Amino acid sequence: NEIYLHGLEGRVPPFTTDATALGASARDHLDAGAFGYVAGSAGSGATHRANREAFDRHRLVPRMLTDATDRDLRTTVLGTPMPAPVVLAPVGVQSIVHREGELATARAAASLGLTMTLSTASSYTTEQVAEASGPGSPRWFQLYWPNDDDVCASLLDRARRAGFTTLVVTLDTWTLAWRPRDLDQSYLPFIRGVGTAIPFSDPAFRAGLAKPPEEDLDAAVLRWVPMFTGTDKSWSRLPFLRRHWDGPIVLKGIQHPDDARRAAEAGIDGIVVSNHGGRQVDGAVASLDALPGIARAVERTGSGMEILFDSGIRTGSDVLKALALGARAVLVGRPFAYGLAHGGEDGVRHVLRGLLADLDLTLGLSGHRSPAELTPDDLWHRP
Ligand code: FNR
Repeated sequence: NEIYLHGLEGRVPPFTTDATALGASARDHLDAGAFGYVAGSAGSGATHRANREAFDRHRLVPRMLTDATDRDLRTTVLGTPMPAPVVLAPVGVQSIVHREGELATARAAASLGLTMTLSTASSYTTEQVAEASGPGSPRWFQLYWPNDDDVCASLLDRARRAGFTTLVVTLDTWTLAWRPRDLDQSYLPFIRGVGTAIPFSDPAFRAGLAKPPEEDLDAAVLRWVPMFTGTDKSWSRLPFLRRHWDGPIVLKGIQHPDDARRAAEAGIDGIVVSNHGGRQVDGAVASLDALPGIARAVERTGSGMEILFDSGIRTGSDVLKALALGARAVLVGRPFAYGLAHGGEDGVRHVLRGLLADLDLTLGLSGHRSPAELTPDDLWHRP
């Protein structure tokens, strides 16, 4: 109704509703460094392209005369009720893209009841984002796992007290990959933006500095880089997180069935099958291609560990394909970051509403009332 009524009034959307064209149109709103930070990927971009190409190789097989008029997209993921199986992926240093950064994203997500995942590299503090998100709004916290246990415990404690319910531990970024677009800019936008990232406001982090980051940013960055790089993490360290986090724990960046099995055996609550949007290992397997094997491996454990998915989701049809192959929900990254570039909070909302509407329409037109109905049999697959 809204779309047709706007048409009658001669109103058009604020910017494109074609999610595959969002990047190109966001380019007009960003300087080269900021655009490179969002759009960039590792190495030659092979994995980034493979992510999209895998979606093209999988096709929905619509069913007719099923009466899919009344649809219900609601679901619950790791105890968090959701209006649709869509979560905002952690995206760091959003102030590079828009002055209001994570605050704008938090408001947009909250207005739609969607869950936001706040990055450890957020340009606004845990407490500021919680306030922008508002009481009762669903929020998860993403951890870049520092090798200083006091700082780690402090980050988790702050997140918990600020109402973040689920911990998403990113495993695939213990150092940044070879990212030519960022390297060609000497990571300038990133380094300028990172000075306000969450660790810099953390009391345990600041306790190790002679002067606060506001007075000596160089020293703060030199403490931060080794603390969040090359950390000596192994499966045996997971109990540390359990001791410091009493909610669900999710491991993000799983691409091998054996790692998924280990996570299930370790009692982890969920995983995100992800290659970080092709930003870490150039030439890594497409995330969608990794998903079926992982879903089978997890099924065999009988653990009930929940599987989430990201990397390459652009359209409603993409969401349905990931769900059909075993994901319970998906995370989206670049699309909402491009929305942020276009118009802050309104821009993020425009992109997310478009994705939800597209998802709803495509679900119905495929002959289903609920995403839970989808199975691999609803897909055709070109090897
Ligand atoms: C990311 N991603 C990411 N992941 C994470 O765990 N912590 C972070 O701080 C960031 N930061 C970040 C910045 C930018 C600009 C992008 C594009 C991505 C990865 C993100 O959570 C997600 O895995 C991918 O973005 C998913 O792929 P798509 O949806 O961008 O194709």
